[in-house]
Amino acid sequence: MAEYDYDLIVIGAGPGGYVGAIRAAQLGLKTACVEGRETLGGTCLNVGCIPSKALLHGSEKYDEVASGALARYGVKVSKVDFDLAALQADKADAVKGLTGGIEFLFKKNKVDWLKGYGTFKDAHTITVAGKDYTAKEVVIATGSSVTPLPGVEVDNDKGVIVDSTGALALAKVPQHLVVIGGGVIGLELGSVWRRLGAKVTVVEYLDALLPGMDMDVRKEAAKVFKKQGMDLKLGTKVTGASVKGKKATLTLEPAKGGAAETVEADCVLVAIGRRPNTEGLGLENIGLETNARGQIETGHDFRTKVDGVRAIGDVIPGPMLAHKAEDEGVAVAEYIATGVGIVNHDVIPGVVYTMPEMAGVGLTEEAAKERGEIKVGKFPMMANSRAKTNHEPEGFVKVIADAKTDKVLGVWCIASVAGTMIAQAAQAMEFGATSEDIAYTCHAHPTHSEAVKEAAMAVTGKPIHI
Ligand code: FAD
Ligand code: NAI
Repeated sequence: MAEYDYDLIVIGAGPGGYVGAIRAAQLGLKTACVEGRETLGGTCLNVGCIPSKALLHGSEKYDEVASGALARYGVKVSKVDFDLAALQADKADAVKGLTGGIEFLFKKNKVDWLKGYGTFKDAHTITVAGKDYTAKEVVIATGSSVTPLPGVEVDNDKGVIVDSTGALALAKVPQHLVVIGGGVIGLELGSVWRRLGAKVTVVEYLDALLPGMDMDVRKEAAKVFKKQGMDLKLGTKVTGASVKGKKATLTLEPAKGGAAETVEADCVLVAIGRRPNTEGLGLENIGLETNARGQIETGHDFRTKVDGVRAIGDVIPGPMLAHKAEDEGVAVAEYIATGVGIVNHDVIPGVVYTMPEMAGVGLTEEAAKERGEIKVGKFPMMANSRAKTNHEPEGFVKVIADAKTDKVLGVWCIASVAGTMIAQAAQAMEFGATSEDIAYTCHAHPTHSEAVKEAAMAVTGKPIHI
């Protein structure tokens, strides 16, 4: 009889866990994945990336028609009706299709889905729904949940103060949505509801939106969202909230201190970050502690300090992004099966899926300057023929290179398709490209991506179109 039930048990079936489980099975490991949700795919497929992108896409289509922006192409619409239930149904359809797809992939790859929430009994034994399962190796991929804001209690059922999950499922368009947190979730979901007709106020503690991104992007983002009609209250904190019936009253104060004001809203979205899911996992039973931020620390091969237990995804340090979790899923399986795995944590792109999109990879200009001498090339989308023709003049591409070696250290852009454009920058950086390499790569014309080439040319001062 085998010593263990499985070679590998993965706890959590988000982009980290499900990808890791499938890769392990492909590599010949007998694998099970524990998941307590009714559907596979984790935060990303159920209440994150996918449903938010469905609403972003649908609301963008509505906005295009309702705002009259299509009239310049001769598309004249006299009366526009909007059916939120239909948009929500389209979103549900996308989620159902993709989560069901993971279940199919589990069956195809012979990954067992252990249904329920898992707890460590010991380092090689996981209890799920009252039954013990053993494995030689265990990977923790339990993801993250919304960080609560004391004094601003979320109640998604009531729908007045909600988190991202509640804001994805609103049954009617709010009149006034106040978003607490000018980060990725606040700006994406704020954009959805603004396009559908809500007045949107964003309250951000810091003096600029989107912490973590390059300061040029952060400053430009504020201009873009203000122009779209969002009311931005930067450098402002929420000090209290009360709910009466279907209305919330928030008390705001300047972050640095000063006179308080109150704001009324029929919907408040709390989006101040996410924290790792480790509660109830039984980490105490295996002597595994979390760091001050509640994360599980690992080495490069995702080993924790407990033998046989590794961790990946949102539950470990690093950006909380689905593609980072996925790559770690592949790598952890490869480490376990072959002893070798690869994730380049210096080259993880990030994208904010607003219109225009905002994206970056590698170091910000601020961080790059701290490390040494740099050269920077910038090219405005207004000078890109395709963006100009499409009436998408906002934004720029910025390439940051090492002053001595010309190696590209970071690329940042705001453009309608910045999320797609950043892929070539990530690939170039992965291959150790110089700005000259990008500048001398032939880019198809007319494409938005030509702006990446021109920004690279601008590093040495030679763009053609400005
Ligand atoms: P998760 O996806 O959180 O999955 C963890 C799973 O583990 C969950 O299903 C949970 O039920 C399960 N679990 C937890 N504890 C246990 C247990 N004890 N036993 C069994 N199962 C357990 N990222 C992007 O890259 N692009 C985006 O566009 C994007 N959009 C987002 C939009 C929103 C609104 C949100 C909230 C997040 C978004 N993210 C996006 C972030 C992305 O969803 C996460 O980075 C990603 O899901 C992390 O993957 P993970 O596998 O680490 O964890
Ligand atoms: P975030 O970290 O992006 O933004 C939170 C914002 O709230 C920050 O700007 C922060 O300064 C601010 N803040 C914190 N406390 C505050 C307070 N008390 N009052 C006012 N502002 C406060 O976190 P967010 O938007 O909640 O997203 C969570 C995670 O989900 C992110 O790490 C992100 O990576 C991921 N995500 C990724 C997406 C994407 O890749 N497109 C989309 C949505 C989420």
